[in-house]
Amino acid sequence: MNKVTLDIRADADHAMLWRDDVLYLLDQRVLPAEEAYIRCDDARHTAAAITAMVVRGAPAIGITAAYGVALAGRDAFARRPSDWRAAMVDDLAALRASRPTAVNLFWALDRMAELISRLGEGDPSAALLTEARAIHAEDRAANLAMGAYGAALIDGPTAVITHCNTGGLATGGHGTALGVIRSAYAAGRIDQVFADETRPWLQGNRLTAWELARDRIPVKVMADGAAAARMAAGGIGWAIVGSDRIAANGDVANKIGTYGLAVAARHHGVKFMVAAPTSTIDLAMASGAGIPIEERAADEVLGCAGQRVGPAGVGAWNPVFDVTPAQLVDAIVTERGVILSPNAEKIAAHMADQPSGGL
Ligand code: MRU
Repeated sequence: MNKVTLDIRADADHAMLWRDDVLYLLDQRVLPAEEAYIRCDDARHTAAAITAMVVRGAPAIGITAAYGVALAGRDAFARRPSDWRAAMVDDLAALRASRPTAVNLFWALDRMAELISRLGEGDPSAALLTEARAIHAEDRAANLAMGAYGAALIDGPTAVITHCNTGGLATGGHGTALGVIRSAYAAGRIDQVFADETRPWLQGNRLTAWELARDRIPVKVMADGAAAARMAAGGIGWAIVGSDRIAANGDVANKIGTYGLAVAARHHGVKFMVAAPTSTIDLAMASGAGIPIEERAADEVLGCAGQRVGPAGVGAWNPVFDVTPAQLVDAIVTERGVILSPNAEKIAAHMADQPSGGL
């Protein structure tokens, strides 16, 4: 991939940049040791960057794919102006196949496809870029709204545990769970964050801790296996996580280890919050049982930070997401508000924008 250095401060608010008709992605594989950008000139490179996790996090994947469609449309029109829709098909398929679990990817691609179906026969480039930019900006706005709704739930000041990275790097800005944490810290409702390191890819250690340290929010990284002991030690008000896909019944797919965190939280009387935009809710998925769970290479588990640590000749099981049953979730927070003790009826009402009395 094409690595470049840009003349801007590499930070979470610049994880995805559109500049001079090219998409730049802050390379999350090498943070925080290295702050480099990958240049994506076309949709194929964009899809490959999503698969390789140059960019990751459900909303960020969707935003990146939308920019990828803008690149695909521009190239298709340049190659076959009278037939650009057909010329885009392979690029759209590559973007759709880039990762399986985060529904935000498919949500964004469907939204771009809907726009494509409405466009005339001229050059689609400007309209596609405008839509991608709108998806990007709307996600940031949604996170700011979620931050306010989620912070209001927290009786503080208290400490919280979070898992994976759900900040600006994973979204259009501010973050989902990390957005709630940012807003709640600013409001004096959170005074300490414990970040699970999030094996095997270390999103918590490498990315969440990096974002929080830059914002001067007190953060301690701990091994994933330490979370239950930390809850038992007391002082944890909430566990706050994001999601890659929420099923119609409220089951939540998120980074591997989230389910165990939720079980431990319920055991210890710690409240469990999921912060995710409505673009993460998949009403077509009846329950978590049907959510496709990505499995990645064994090397990720058998090694650490690129170094092989396991013995030669052993295999590994590496599902990178799990499903937390809705019964273990105390609150789902979206840009529209809060769903307490989520179930199918409340989620349907929330998505129809008619909050029920049970919320
Ligand atoms: O494999 P990743 O790093 O893309 O997984 C990301 C997560 O699981 C996040 O918790 C989720 O996407 C919510 S991010 C706002």
